[in-house]
Amino acid sequence: MTARDTTVLVAGATGDLGSQIVQNLLERGSTVRALVRPSSADGGERLRGVAGHPNLSLRVGDLTDGAASLAPHVDGVDVVVSAVQGGPDVIVDGQRELLTAAAAAGVRRMIPSDFSINLYGYEYGVNLYSDVRRKFSEEFRDSPVLRTSVTVGAFPEYFLAPLHEVLDVAAGTFSIWGDGTQPIDITTIPDTAAYTAAIALDPSTAGRDVHVVGQQLSLLELHEEVEAASGRPWRLVRRGSLEDLQAEIIRRQFVATSPFEYLALQYQTVMYNGRASVVDVRNADYPSVVPTSVATYLAGPGATHLARSPENTASQQST
Ligand SMILES: NC(=O)c1ccc[n+]([C@@H]2O[C@H](COP(=O)([O-])OP(=O)(O)OC[C@H]3O[C@@H](n4cnc5c(N)ncnc54)[C@H](OP(=O)(O)O)[C@@H]3O)[C@@H](O)[C@H]2O)c1
Repeated sequence: MTARDTTVLVAGATGDLGSQIVQNLLERGSTVRALVRPSSADGGERLRGVAGHPNLSLRVGDLTDGAASLAPHVDGVDVVVSAVQGGPDVIVDGQRELLTAAAAAGVRRMIPSDFSINLYGYEYGVNLYSDVRRKFSEEFRDSPVLRTSVTVGAFPEYFLAPLHEVLDVAAGTFSIWGDGTQPIDITTIPDTAAYTAAIALDPSTAGRDVHVVGQQLSLLELHEEVEAASGRPWRLVRRGSLEDLQAEIIRRQFVATSPFEYLALQYQTVMYNGRASVVDVRNADYPSVVPTSVATYLAGPGATHLARSPENTASQQST
């Protein structure tokens, strides 16, 4: 089966990642059904660039409406790709409805909305977002639909944003926990979309997870990249050991008004101790995707992380 013979349903098609997966699939010649919610029935801003493409159809639906309402959208589909975002109602319950509909329609493969660090490298209870994705993965045990989870590490668009508390533009600091020598996995959102499209169109991935990565580098190396890209020094702040990081997460859990006050640190614990690292990296299976280096990212769209802008300063103060 070639890309041209393959029909892919993309859920979360109006999202940041999902819209770019749609675009990559169309570029590869496949037929794409973009699942969009009624509130963005015209495809919205992010799908504007591919509006009217002859191989694209918009399907209006919401995962929480249930499997029966999703049935016409998955009928005749070869692969389902989900890039939805949300709480357990979407990631567990909503994707379960999509999986049920896909199974009933005879869909062979599904890529769930993981696109994360290697969340199967650690156990339940480490990270809220990982837990719901693992919970959903258990649904495949009794399903004829074969799962392919795509692992990419951290998106630099998020990891270098104020939420992760690594860069503090106002203070001119770069903060690390631990000794900063563990390699971490970084893949941009556009590269994740390009790899996901290639993986979706690769039938050999049926029933196995695929790890790909843009660049692996330690926090100390990332610090050097940030200094080189910005042309100025960033004072290295050693915030404590990995045990101190764990204690900080627990402390915040007691006082937090929102999980976002500690979620980023939950990702960092397993990134910095290596348990969330990619294994069996399969970049070589997809030579058509040439991932962006961190240096290139920082010289391009990532330059916004380094700018002394009001956005960076204001959001830093609120974290
Ligand atoms: N590795 C990393 O560092 C990293 C960082 C960020 C995100 N991610 C992962 O990447 C994936 C995509 O994230 P994103 O940032 O692209 O998300 P996003 O931009 O927020 O997009 C989410 C998409 O899900 C759709 N959606 C939400 N609830 C739905 C429902 N009930 N039914 C149908 N569609 C629904 C949204 O539709 P509307 O447009 O109608 O709201 C939107 O299209 C997620 O799994 C996320 O965890 C990974």
